[in-house]
Amino acid sequence: MALAEHDVARVARRSPSSSILPMPVPLLDLRAQHATIRDEILPALEGLVDSQLFILGAPVERLEREVAELSHTKYAVGCASGTDALLLALKALDVGPGDEVITTPFTFFATAGTIHNVGARPVFVDIEPKTYNIRPDAAAAARTAKTKAVVPVDLFGQMAAVEDVAKALPGIPVIEDAAQSIGARRSIDGEWRMAGEVATIGTFSFFPSKNLGGYGDGGMMVTNDAAISDRLKRLRMHGGAKQYFHDEVGFNSRLDSLQAVVLSAKLPHLAAWSAKRRANAAYYDQAFADLDAVTTPYVEPANESIFNQYTIRVERRDELQSFLKDRGIGTSIYYPLPLHLQPCFAYLGYKEGSCPESERAAKQVLSLPIYPELTQGQLDDVISAVRGFYGR
Ligand SMILES: Cc1ncc(COP(=O)(O)O)c(C=O)c1O
Repeated sequence: MALAEHDVARVARRSPSSSILPMPVPLLDLRAQHATIRDEILPALEGLVDSQLFILGAPVERLEREVAELSHTKYAVGCASGTDALLLALKALDVGPGDEVITTPFTFFATAGTIHNVGARPVFVDIEPKTYNIRPDAAAAARTAKTKAVVPVDLFGQMAAVEDVAKALPGIPVIEDAAQSIGARRSIDGEWRMAGEVATIGTFSFFPSKNLGGYGDGGMMVTNDAAISDRLKRLRMHGGAKQYFHDEVGFNSRLDSLQAVVLSAKLPHLAAWSAKRRANAAYYDQAFADLDAVTTPYVEPANESIFNQYTIRVERRDELQSFLKDRGIGTSIYYPLPLHLQPCFAYLGYKEGSCPESERAAKQVLSLPIYPELTQGQLDDVISAVRGFYGR
């Protein structure tokens, strides 16, 4: 998990100067959300605990049906995390040693870490500077005889141009890393398509800081291909369709029923929570419109973002971040070092300048609090602090 994402819980509890006072505006306040749904979650959890049926079963099947419906796909398969969803997807497409997988370096580590962990080679291509998502033409240019899959990422809540990526790489399966974008949609040929829908396999994370977050780790894969769905189900259970009989070597990666119960209780709220995030984003956009030093997030006209993050590009980013911290405003940098420059990927041979837009973004981006429970006062505090920093 990104350190910053773990920090979210701590940020919600501590002010910069005191270990007991809450911050005026944490980056994310999960307790504020829990307070609004406590009466729905706790009875559901109680029922599950009383049943003592903790592994797969009805609660996981129910959530799989619900997420498939949301994503306009025929199948959904729960697993232990968004990272495992990527890993299982790569395995289900037979990606392994000797293969190359094209992806973006401006993403959470798991996108490329899983490619490495199945024995394949991550091939990094640069991003569109406005959306931070993979450039389809760059993905096409990176294709070789070894290319086995492509992994576009729907960063910060906005779908990548998944259909263009698929067109740019005919015959290559697409794994859409939609960890940050469940419920996001994109108008393709005049029709709304959901995150995960257009890809060969779409993957979601239920990490607590996601728009649909569990009370622990969880993940899910969606697909319209029955054979892939069956294979994913086997792979999450040690590779066997029947207990103690193994067609191949798989993993132990199941979604906990406890998490499924929490997630099914939260799912009916997802659309309203994401709409509130969009409203908060629109409010910030307007408030920062006259600041030359701040570039607000760009959402493509074809897209409806779920704003898992509200990420601005700014001058003097690090100074602004500490200025906001001193005023009790939580922020985070997603992501400070693009993956092609991470020490663990030095063996791939990328250098500074290999993906210039990703490198520039890493130096300029700053994510502000955007969660749906932010009060008007908190939003205004963030705005006046940012404006104050730039003397406006
Ligand atoms: C883009 C992206 N991919 C993959 C993951 C991995 O998900 P998880 O933390 O559930 O393993 C995350 C979230 O942390 C993510 O943001």
